Amino acid sequence: ESYDMGGHDTYMHKEIHEQADAVDRALRGRIDDRFSTVHLGGLNLDARDARAVRRVKILGCGTSYHAGQIGAQMIEELARIPADAEPASEFRYRNPVVDPDTLYIAVSQSGETYDVLAAVQELKRKGARVLGLVNVVGSAIARETDGGIYVHAGPEVCVVSTKCFTNMVVSFGLLALHLGRTRDLSVADGKRIIEGLRKLPGQIEEILANEAQIEELAKEYAEAKSMMFIGRVRGYPVAREASLKLKEVSYIHAEAYPASELKHGPLALIEPAMPTVAIVPDDELLEKNRAALEEIKARSGRILAVAHREQEKADHTIVVPKNEDELDAILMGIPLQLFAYYTAKAMGRDIDKPRNLAKSVTVE
Ligand code: AGP
Repeated sequence: ESYDMGGHDTYMHKEIHEQADAVDRALRGRIDDRFSTVHLGGLNLDARDARAVRRVKILGCGTSYHAGQIGAQMIEELARIPADAEPASEFRYRNPVVDPDTLYIAVSQSGETYDVLAAVQELKRKGARVLGLVNVVGSAIARETDGGIYVHAGPEVCVVSTKCFTNMVVSFGLLALHLGRTRDLSVADGKRIIEGLRKLPGQIEEILANEAQIEELAKEYAEAKSMMFIGRVRGYPVAREASLKLKEVSYIHAEAYPASELKHGPLALIEPAMPTVAIVPDDELLEKNRAALEEIKARSGRILAVAHREQEKADHTIVVPKNEDELDAILMGIPLQLFAYYTAKAMGRDIDKPRNLAKSVTVE
């Protein structure tokens, strides 16, 4: 991949379209079919170390934090290790209890974000084991950590992160599989996840082939002053990331909520002028998600669903291909990257350099 625009009008558009290749690169040379696991060369964590991990704490900022939220869920699901993600910017200021049995993971595209770097340095000072999940090779966070995974997204120029987010989430999938296979994840489940990972590049191409529909929808929704994004469990970090993407690039106000929290307050905002984007995967929460759509419809809310099949309660559905339940979050946000891009384009925004933002925040 190069810095050449290759016919795209912006880096954001180019980088969204590079995702199938980028994911392919993240997987290349890492899958071990013989033992239904993966090899992550730079991890510096043998099976004995991996088994000794009692908790996983993931630290990052912005989009990388959202990737970490999905990563934490994957690690809990596949490896059954308690895991959570926290903004590095908060973690470093709250005098955290640093536990020697916790594996800390710093996640960053640039590898230079000051808040993440400062969190890593504080953790190291307190004797913690810290790994990096980083895009830029040789960056400060890559150097300061005890090992880690390069996400291999290639250069990302647009201030708004797209392909790097996807590769981070794929890399967390690899890590979760690796940790799982040192524990109770069976050979059969390992194989099932590997097959799911291998399907991703083709499925990304399928999503991107649907670009014309997404462009039309974006033009329609670009009139909104504010939008609600909802999802549950696996869908919730997807909703958060999609809402951040829209805010950053179009400057439309957006809120992200767990669908389960709607009735505890945000339902009061629902009316025809406040559309909702709902993440509706075909998993064990499908009926619960559909019930949320009904609640919104009953308040005359407009709904755009991202789902594995048409949702009749929604005004529009973007259908995405189904993968394994544990990996669905990797794909469901991709159409919403295009949605944010086309919304910003319809509004004439400076897509690659949104106002007030920098690609890499190297100051406090
Ligand atoms: C992404 O679209 C943002 N511009 C921003 O939230 C970014 O993810 C954050 O500043 C962290 O950057 P990093 O991944 O380089 O550490």
